[in-house]
Amino acid sequence: LLLIIVAVVLGVTLSKETNQFQSVFFSRCEKFKGHDCQKIWEAFQQAYVNQDPCDVPMEAYDPLITAAPFKPTCNRMMFWSKTKDVVHEFTEKRDCFVTLEDTLLGSVLDGLTWCGKEGSSETFTSDCPGWTDCENNTVRSFWNRVSAAYADIACGDVTAMLNGSIAVPFSPTSIFGSIEVKGLNATRVKSLNVVLVTDEKNVTNCTNASLKDLQKELAEGIKYNCKEVPETQIQECGSNPQKPCGSCW
Ligand code: APR
Repeated sequence: LLLIIVAVVLGVTLSKETNQFQSVFFSRCEKFKGHDCQKIWEAFQQAYVNQDPCDVPMEAYDPLITAAPFKPTCNRMMFWSKTKDVVHEFTEKRDCFVTLEDTLLGSVLDGLTWCGKEGSSETFTSDCPGWTDCENNTVRSFWNRVSAAYADIACGDVTAMLNGSIAVPFSPTSIFGSIEVKGLNATRVKSLNVVLVTDEKNVTNCTNASLKDLQKELAEGIKYNCKEVPETQIQECGSNPQKPCGSCW
């Protein structure tokens, strides 16, 4: 009898690692009102629990997207590449633009690592495969899938903040280059407006060759613009709530 009790307890209790991850998931999720976080958690888990962490395709997260769909915020959608800190510092302070990481799914999982294991119902947060260790790893497939969904609903004039302090601001192998740009739908998206974030060194400007590649990837009918904007100007606009969004750059 004791053995049975021990077995049952082991079967229904989850490790500290799983519980800690789950509590971060719920506390972040509950900041968004009007969503069933339990349902979203279950849809999330089914993608990777009891799976080989290197064999989780993007499509495994389809039920998660259905459970927590993205709502279009036309003319305010912001994409980015190699500008994580400056873009989020800005969107946290001002409501001008919305990045994927400001939405429910993006903000719940931002900065986290998770994976499952075959034969286990746990969520692990250590010893998970790294970003480039295998193509279909749990975390990378998640970001690929949510990025595709976010690009798919994009509408109106969309903005992308790219890094003008590096030699190649547009990389075709980044998520922005490989998934989001290709996923913009010309029936909904009017224009893509690149904000090239510059510093004093002026490493790159809007004539950069990689930005020509970006334009080639855009679906026919989507207009393209590029503007060089000093990082200090973006920071200033972030700290000046009186400044209208349209006059930030
Ligand atoms: N190793 C580890 N993490 C990586 C790697 C890598 N090689 N590549 C990307 N990442 C993760 C990191 O968390 C990093 O901060 O993705 C983040 C963004 O990577 P970038 O190369 O800066 O940008 P990109 O791949 O274009 O992704 C950003 O995708 O998240 C969406 O909508 C969002 O437009 C944004 C775009």
